Amino acid sequence: MLDQLVENLKSATVSEHTDKPLDKTIVSLLTDFVQHLKTDITARPKFEEDDVILFEDDKISIWFCRFHPGTKIPPHNHNMTAIIGVYAGTEGNALYKKDKDERLTCYQINNVHAGEVLCIAPDAIHGVTCLSEHPSEAIHVYLGAITRVERNLYDLEHGAVLPFTEENYDNLSKTLN
Ligand SMILES: [Fe+2]
Repeated sequence: MLDQLVENLKSATVSEHTDKPLDKTIVSLLTDFVQHLKTDITARPKFEEDDVILFEDDKISIWFCRFHPGTKIPPHNHNMTAIIGVYAGTEGNALYKKDKDERLTCYQINNVHAGEVLCIAPDAIHGVTCLSEHPSEAIHVYLGAITRVERNLYDLEHGAVLPFTEENYDNLSKTLN
């Protein structure tokens, strides 16, 4: 099931005979996938790692992402369209905007429940919280090579903008409970 999704997502990026925008095609593919896996538990992929890169090229990056209850991922940007499809648990997505002092304010929260898909604009800044009692499991799709683009993490407490590195990510990530 997951292998087929990955193949379909890859094919979508090279399909020339369609009028449909790529992000809309990805949303459709992911919606079908997460709605199926929401109820068909046996079809869910089994990963020991919480973050797994399933595929990456210049056009698309596909990740498996598991967040544990209470985990809070600091605000960050992607510098490319991000599409999140959740099939287990709930991912809370907070969207932030910068004020004139470059400080971040949360202006919208989208709770993405199992079976739902959220599309985030290339210039968006978001933070993620696992809101469910069980881990959230999702497929995150980025329309570009996410590991090869420079991006930022935002330290809300100190008002600092940091490069997106594994060390900064781990330092700023929290468990709420
Ligand atoms: Fe993200």
